[in-house]
Amino acid sequence: MSELKVLFSREQISNRVSEIAAEISRDFAGESVIFIGVLKGAAVFLADLAREVTVDATFDFIGVSSYGNGKQSSGEVKLMKDVDQPLTNKNIIIVEDILDTGLTMMYLRKMFLAHQPKSLKIAALLDKACRRQQPVTADYVGFTIPDEFVIGYGMDYAERYRNLADICVLIPDTDSEPKASKADELVGGAK
Ligand code: IMP
Repeated sequence: MSELKVLFSREQISNRVSEIAAEISRDFAGESVIFIGVLKGAAVFLADLAREVTVDATFDFIGVSSYGNGKQSSGEVKLMKDVDQPLTNKNIIIVEDILDTGLTMMYLRKMFLAHQPKSLKIAALLDKACRRQQPVTADYVGFTIPDEFVIGYGMDYAERYRNLADICVLIPDTDSEPKASKADELVGGAK
């Protein structure tokens, strides 16, 4: 069994999501926005964020997957599910659970910019800024965190733990479990 250490409680997350929603509501006052969540990790964040904003909003989802040698993401991002609506001249906010190396976001940014939106912003619940390999920053960030593998509030390890209300660090206690400080050994495959 692995041990879970709470990094951010449901109250802390809820307060921060409200603050981000207020920022977005201010920035887009009088306008409409489309939240585009990156499956599956961002689904919970998007659901909470979208219900807190006061601007006219719709939402959609995109599915991507990155392939590597099983331990490390290759940086090759593949589109698994596209959005269902035209994005030209729309205000897009990409909603992501974690901005890690930035490879996924660089790919998505380039892809969405090709649709010629009115504006393109990035909302990331967590930012592992110390791990960045690509020059990408989020416009709205929940929390900046160190290089630790986190789960809960939509985020998984091998599809588990997404339904935890808190964001936790997974602390392994056997060799068969992940090393919490090395995200590279854990990411890769479907997001
Ligand atoms: P990037 O392309 O390296 O920025 O990949 C970001 C994606 O990697 C996130 O959307 C997550 O799916 C996954 N990821 C990175 N770190 C973690 C983590 O600590 N827990 C769960 N998923 C993670």
